[in-house]
Amino acid sequence: MRAAKQQVRSVTAGSSAPQIRATDADDVPILVSLAEGTRVFSPHEIVGLKEDLDSCLAGDYPLDRLLTIEHAGRAVGFAHFGPAEITHGTWYLYWIAVDRASHGHGYGAQLLRRVEDEVRGRDGRLVLIETSTLPRYEATRSFYERTGYGRECVIRDYYSVGDDKVVFAKRLA
Ligand SMILES: CC(C)(COP(=O)(O)OP(=O)(O)OC[C@H]1O[C@@H](n2cnc3c(N)ncnc32)[C@H](O)[C@@H]1OP(=O)(O)O)[C@@H](O)C(=O)NCCC(=O)NCCS
Repeated sequence: MRAAKQQVRSVTAGSSAPQIRATDADDVPILVSLAEGTRVFSPHEIVGLKEDLDSCLAGDYPLDRLLTIEHAGRAVGFAHFGPAEITHGTWYLYWIAVDRASHGHGYGAQLLRRVEDEVRGRDGRLVLIETSTLPRYEATRSFYERTGYGRECVIRDYYSVGDDKVVFAKRLA
């Protein structure tokens, strides 16, 4: 059953407040298109994203969570996160994306705060986020730093030669 929608604090000027709710199957084409429109993800990643969303909604990862943020009835972003296997309280943020036309309005930070609240609520203590060191991810890395994530480690040449993986981490209070 779809989770109850929850009113969240507005961070954007306007008459209605953004809302964060559980993602449902109707959202998938919109979210995939939104992610594609950010121009950050490769076609290969977009295919993987669609598979991840479909699998998650099909219940293949029952502990994972998928959240959509919408404003004025329009989906403007989403996040997918889940617990890391064989750990006690470590969670991964797998995907986060905001509609390109809506960047810089606080939606991403609001989503991330909600992710952290939900992780805390499930006895989570550590959130990890992996991303690339390629220049096109520079804004993404700035976003993680501005939202309180530190660079925990770098694995050189992880994605391909010259494309390192950086792991950002936040220990939840
Ligand atoms: C990363 C992303 C989710 C951020 O969402 P957003 O709604 O634009 O971010 P916010 O408006 O909430 O910004 C939160 C903070 O990050 C900072 N930030 C956001 N974008 C930034 C940028 N391009 N450069 C520098 N800082 C940035 C903001 O200044 C803000 O910091 P502040 O509160 O100290 O001013 C969004 O840019 C996006 O969808 N990027 C493409 C997809 C992606 O890279 N996803 C992650 C890989 S899985």
